[in-house]
Amino acid sequence: MAVSTARTVGDMHRAARRLDGLGTTIFAEMSRLAVETGSVNLGQGFPDVDGPSWVVDAVTEAMRSGHNQYAPGTGVPQLRTAVARHQHRFYGIEVDPASQVVVTTGATEAIAAALLGLVNPGDEVVVLEPYYDSYVAMLQMAGATRRPVTLRAPDFRLPIDQFRAAVSPRTRMVLLNTPHNPTGAVLTRAELEAIADVAIEHDLIVVSDEVYEHLTFGVEHVPIATLPGMADRTLTISSAGKSFSFTGWKVGWATGPADLVEATMGAKQFLSYTSGAPFQPAIARALDQAESIVDPLRQHLADRRDQLCTGLEQIGFDVFQPDGTYFATTDVRPLGFDDGLEFCRSLARTVGVVAIPHQVFYDDVDAGRPLVRWAFCKSESVIAEALERLSGLSHH
Ligand SMILES: Cc1ncc(COP(=O)(O)O)c(C=O)c1O
Repeated sequence: MAVSTARTVGDMHRAARRLDGLGTTIFAEMSRLAVETGSVNLGQGFPDVDGPSWVVDAVTEAMRSGHNQYAPGTGVPQLRTAVARHQHRFYGIEVDPASQVVVTTGATEAIAAALLGLVNPGDEVVVLEPYYDSYVAMLQMAGATRRPVTLRAPDFRLPIDQFRAAVSPRTRMVLLNTPHNPTGAVLTRAELEAIADVAIEHDLIVVSDEVYEHLTFGVEHVPIATLPGMADRTLTISSAGKSFSFTGWKVGWATGPADLVEATMGAKQFLSYTSGAPFQPAIARALDQAESIVDPLRQHLADRRDQLCTGLEQIGFDVFQPDGTYFATTDVRPLGFDDGLEFCRSLARTVGVVAIPHQVFYDDVDAGRPLVRWAFCKSESVIAEALERLSGLSHH
């Protein structure tokens, strides 16, 4: 597989001037509105309870014992080994910690480095929309052309024929996200098999963003790398932020065949060089105990999902119950609104709740126009307060 990291500073600069930041702008606007209006913020996806204190202690211990200078570029050996053990324990995937794992500054950097390292200007990348907001900007920075495949309400299932039709001779990569933000859809084994067939037929690289791998509710998360013929063409990305509720630490990783990892490392070297040293041995320990952290988190989130979805339904929204992530999506039309962006802008001021409109994450704006995303990685009382405030809406 030919990979290239060739790119000039001039190219990068020109690309940077036309980045689409609408999603990011909306997050900033909604966070500002939340503060200004004293709203309950169900917008941005970060948990309001930190991960285990013993993992926090492990960071302090690492600092005290001298893990304060640059870590190796690919990550400290303990963490790379723990990531490899995790992939094997949960999925039976074998990766060599020395050549097939790279630690990154959050999944965000893994996505950035993978796209910059693996895609040449003019290449096409098939990507599911609605997009996680960094995808569009990073595809632009890489000079790639995005070929969206739209997941549509109410089920957000993969339209396999449209997926096939999006592939052209210029396609180099499929950029996947499962469990999927913002829809909460989890790609089924059959959907992933269909994607794998196309990837193999057209010799495509797959970059699979699986940051919500442990946050599924009664459905199986299938890493596409486990499907026949996929291990040597798939780069899998995950993050300690989501699995262990330490989003602020920004520790992520990518695993896969050595050539894809090396190309990702090649770009990462010039993005951050290396990632936060004291966090890495701590996250290694968390990964080795992952079940004890993610099992109760999953149960907590399942309860909060049910609380939020039931409440939103009672208020009158059409609710699309998610199988994974910590986001639920609603259609706002039953309440007499038709535009999610306008709805969210007025919601903060009228009832004091902040949510995120889907439409900023689509090329096909109409597909997302009436949809709104609500985060449920919050405590029971915060969700109860949001629902109480939202109950005023039924009279709109
Ligand atoms: C789909 C998806 N990918 C990546 C990320 C970013 O992960 P990190 O905070 O580890 O950079 C997020 C965070 O919201 C996400 O939802």
